[in-house]
Amino acid sequence: MLKGKEEEIEFSKGLAGIIAATSELTFIDGQEGFLIYRGIPIESMAENSTFEETTYFLIFGKLPNKGELDDFTNEIKEYRKLTSKEIDWIKNFPKEGHPMDALRICVSYMGMEEPPPPGEKETIEGFTKCGKKIIARLPSLVAAFDRARNGREILQPDDTLNHAANFLYMLHGKKPDEQSAKVLDVALILHADHGMNASTFSTYVTSSTLSDMYNSIATGIGTLKGPLHGGANERVVAMLKEIGSTEAVEEFMMKALEEKKKIMGFGHRVYKAYDPRAKILKEYAKKLTGREDSVLVDTAIKVEEVMMRELSEKGIYPNVDFYSGFAYKAIGIPTDLFTPIFAMSRVSGWVGHVIEYRAKNRIFRPRAAYIGPENVKYTPIEERN
Ligand code: COA
Repeated sequence: MLKGKEEEIEFSKGLAGIIAATSELTFIDGQEGFLIYRGIPIESMAENSTFEETTYFLIFGKLPNKGELDDFTNEIKEYRKLTSKEIDWIKNFPKEGHPMDALRICVSYMGMEEPPPPGEKETIEGFTKCGKKIIARLPSLVAAFDRARNGREILQPDDTLNHAANFLYMLHGKKPDEQSAKVLDVALILHADHGMNASTFSTYVTSSTLSDMYNSIATGIGTLKGPLHGGANERVVAMLKEIGSTEAVEEFMMKALEEKKKIMGFGHRVYKAYDPRAKILKEYAKKLTGREDSVLVDTAIKVEEVMMRELSEKGIYPNVDFYSGFAYKAIGIPTDLFTPIFAMSRVSGWVGHVIEYRAKNRIFRPRAAYIGPENVKYTPIEERN
């Protein structure tokens, strides 16, 4: 039914459960807590791969051989350099602005400064090249914005460092220790794709109009900014800080649960078992004990104990945001950069999906059922109350 009363219309609010496309990138079994990228379990990707290799795999559909990975990595290194105009722009952004807004604007700007040559514009190669440029540049843009807003000199990338380590270098102005770079690399692998989530869907929609890669990714960034999607890990850190110590956990949690509050970093629309990404990050986060803010790790482990005791029967388990926040905090990343880091990773999935969908494109056009009035007479302005 396309019109009528709200209660009479059968529809899927928010397209929940609707299959709108097919994809070879990612499969999630929420009941079993199982996630695969192109067939490979996420645990195996986290243990053996790197963000660069995972990106190649998601985009091109095969694990690269040594030569292919070297070429891809070198291309990414070339593209991650900031242009002088980008640096000028970023220096003039409002310092109080949200870094996700800075990122979205920069991607649009890249589209104006570096559009594909006319001959390449319509080709999959041209489309893919733009995707690679965006994947490469996002970390440089995030780091540059953070340094500019803090009155620090913007740095260019260091070619001796991989994607994750280079981001930490460009952010902090010194080469990171191995453990910090490894934790970030793993977090980037774990967040790189997650099927048809809200931001990925928005990139599909934009690209399905045959818009370009820059606009498709800018759309994804705008969608990811919302607190129902990116951003839960920021609130986990705030909650853990509010709790303050392991001794205070029991009372805080029981009171919150009694008041029916949602505990940040728990529960998931798809996972009704332990989020496999959270399991992996928990192990890496534990290794960061002893660093700044690592008291949060002990508090978090205690929070998890209480939640498992109270809610695991309902299928409420930690999700990936529960452990990513304080892992980032422990390696010195400011809280409002957590969602931009999510974007730096998820951009691989976005690019992979829009390239895949472009080959079998159909414009997205769902319908909304009309529940408004009918047969309304137009009233001239002088007769209106
Ligand atoms: N803390 C406490 N109780 C929770 C909970 C949480 N984080 N998540 C779900 N529940 C409870 C609900 O209150 C509901 O209880 P009820 O049966 O007594 O009404 C039950 O578990 C089912 O939850 P539901 O709201 O159906 O889950 P959902 O699939 O609609 O929501 C989320 C999923 C992610 C929106 C929700 O779990 C949430 O808000 N989590 C916290 C935010 C977060 O971490 N987001 C990041 C997701 S990656």
